Amino acid sequence: MITIKKITAQDTYPIRLEVLRKNIPLPFQFNGDLDDTTFHLGAFNNDKLISVSSYMKESNNLFNGSQYQLRGMATLVEYQGKGVGKLMLENAISIIEEKNIDFLWCNARISAVNFYEKLGFKTVGEIFQINYVGEHYAMVKKLKNR
Ligand SMILES: CC(C)(COP(=O)(O)OP(=O)(O)OC[C@H]1O[C@@H](n2cnc3c(N)ncnc32)[C@H](O)[C@@H]1OP(=O)(O)O)[C@@H](O)C(=O)NCCC(=O)NCCS
Repeated sequence: MITIKKITAQDTYPIRLEVLRKNIPLPFQFNGDLDDTTFHLGAFNNDKLISVSSYMKESNNLFNGSQYQLRGMATLVEYQGKGVGKLMLENAISIIEEKNIDFLWCNARISAVNFYEKLGFKTVGEIFQINYVGEHYAMVKKLKNR
């Protein structure tokens, strides 16, 4: 059974490293990881952590209003495509909506744009490069009642 729980920044690091930082010499610890307003979610298959994501009160000039940024979204390869990431992100959206935040945004790898679109995110602005990782789009989801 899959359950979604709040986890610590430290808990996210092994999956960030394995899924998002393999052969990529960028930090796996993010500014804001330990901020009071930040929270981290994990998806567990029974007791095994299989997917992680982090949510930070960080604003992007592209958007006007209160904002959270999604970072470090990653599901272990053998569990991808089974609905786990979607379940975790839906959970996060509910938590952020309760905080009366206007937008959730992220910098999405091109390969993940469809995943975010299925959850109601839209691409904004021009495609841009992040060193070592490749092309990205800023994507945003307007939150309920905002
Ligand atoms: C992108 C990622 C986080 C999605 O997590 P996941 O647990 O595999 O996603 P889910 O199984 O919940 O997918 C939900 C839906 O999106 C689709 N989807 C998932 N990943 C996708 C992708 N990369 N491209 C297109 N569609 C995708 C699924 O098929 C599913 O569609 P459905 O609802 O019609 O069945 C995961 O594949 C991953 O860790 N990828 C590598 C790291 C990465 O790119 N992270 C994002 C950085 S911005």
